[in-house]
Amino acid sequence: MAASRAWTFSQRGSPSDILSLTSSRPIPTLPPPETSRSEEWILVKVAFAALNVGAIFQMALVPAFMRNKTCIPEMDLSGTVQDVWHPHVESTASSTTTATINTTTQTRFRKGDKIIAMIPASHALPTGSGALAEYVALPASFAVHKPPQTSFADAAGCLLTGMTAHQQVIEAGIKPGDRVLVNAASGGIGTMAVQMARQVVGPEGFVVGICSTRNIQLVESLGADLVIDYTQHTDNNNSLPAHLAESFHANPFNAIIDTLGHQSLYVNSPAYLVPSGTYSSVGIKPPDFSVPNFLRAVCQMKLNEWWPVSRWLGGVGRLWRGVSMMEPTLEDRERIAEMLGGGQIRVVRDSVWPFDDVKEAYAKLGGLHASGKILVRVDETVGDDEC
Ligand SMILES: NC(=O)c1ccc[n+]([C@@H]2O[C@H](COP(=O)([O-])OP(=O)(O)OC[C@H]3O[C@@H](n4cnc5c(N)ncnc54)[C@H](OP(=O)(O)O)[C@@H]3O)[C@@H](O)[C@H]2O)c1
Repeated sequence: MAASRAWTFSQRGSPSDILSLTSSRPIPTLPPPETSRSEEWILVKVAFAALNVGAIFQMALVPAFMRNKTCIPEMDLSGTVQDVWHPHVESTASSTTTATINTTTQTRFRKGDKIIAMIPASHALPTGSGALAEYVALPASFAVHKPPQTSFADAAGCLLTGMTAHQQVIEAGIKPGDRVLVNAASGGIGTMAVQMARQVVGPEGFVVGICSTRNIQLVESLGADLVIDYTQHTDNNNSLPAHLAESFHANPFNAIIDTLGHQSLYVNSPAYLVPSGTYSSVGIKPPDFSVPNFLRAVCQMKLNEWWPVSRWLGGVGRLWRGVSMMEPTLEDRERIAEMLGGGQIRVVRDSVWPFDDVKEAYAKLGGLHASGKILVRVDETVGDDEC
């Protein structure tokens, strides 16, 4: 049986402690397991994968009984279709033969198609089949065609962050002419959120990004009118919320998009967010990747959602909306691929790492100071800008 390489983990912990690289994983084959034969599946030779903070949380927090014994981490990948299987199609389709089996059924993909996929945790954890592997078999509904002019590297970096940012923009309810604040504007989600917010508010609107000194120019280049360097507002006498209150009290924001989850920005938001404005957040950032702190953050999120918005009743006084991209639809994936292919958004690359150096790449991601996406070249024959 042909073997391939993959990163795997079988116990809970930090990526540096629990990940190991195997070169003896049998290349997956189609058809899929009996229990999963209700939809089209594809086998993909992975070109690039992208790392996500959520995968670090999964490795650190998800107990063994809630996942496959051995798991390959990660959700985002790009690559080329090697095989296709469909429940109503008798033979697999190739780019040279028509993918028709009976007269009514066609496969969405054919051998040789270049694709982007985002594998949700609900599939990756119980099957153990994530993105950090040379070959991945997955339901075709997790994948979309890669835009022809988009590199495999950028394609791998667009889906989870792009879909999360887009949902945040929707939840924030922003419209042309609005004033929008984006926190952590230089991260994977933040770089997407700034670009999307700019497009929605248009030239009459006003987009403010928050990031550290070294990312100011990047965030400006993505469309921010003003960038606030949070490193200048770290002491108690000149905290970031106090600075925002001073600068924007007279002309508050219509919406805040927090792509990191800073509770202090929310709690103080009445001083710089209009009363009808929404605070849209990816969650609440726990101080570390430990179970107790994660549970505390989840409780606080629920309180933010449920506690009365009325300040008379002890609430913050502004609507808080948590965004979840746990089960995105095919339409969600297609929308982001179209935006990328159409040039409405671009993927900012923090860095590209060799497959062998995944642990080092996770160490960088875990510091929460990536500028854009951390990408992993899974197929060493595919170049950085190869489409
Ligand atoms: N809800 C969901 O469905 C969902 C989906 C995906 C991700 N997430 C979560 O969203 C969060 C962000 O993900 P990501 O992929 O964008 O992370 P990322 O790429 O690692 O970006 C993190 C960013 O945070 C910035 N940052 C760090 N400290 C900051 C501070 N004190 N103030 C402002 N910015 C600060 C960093 O900028 P500097 O380097 O300039 O400091 C960096 O650019 C993660 O916690 C992730 O788990 C949630």
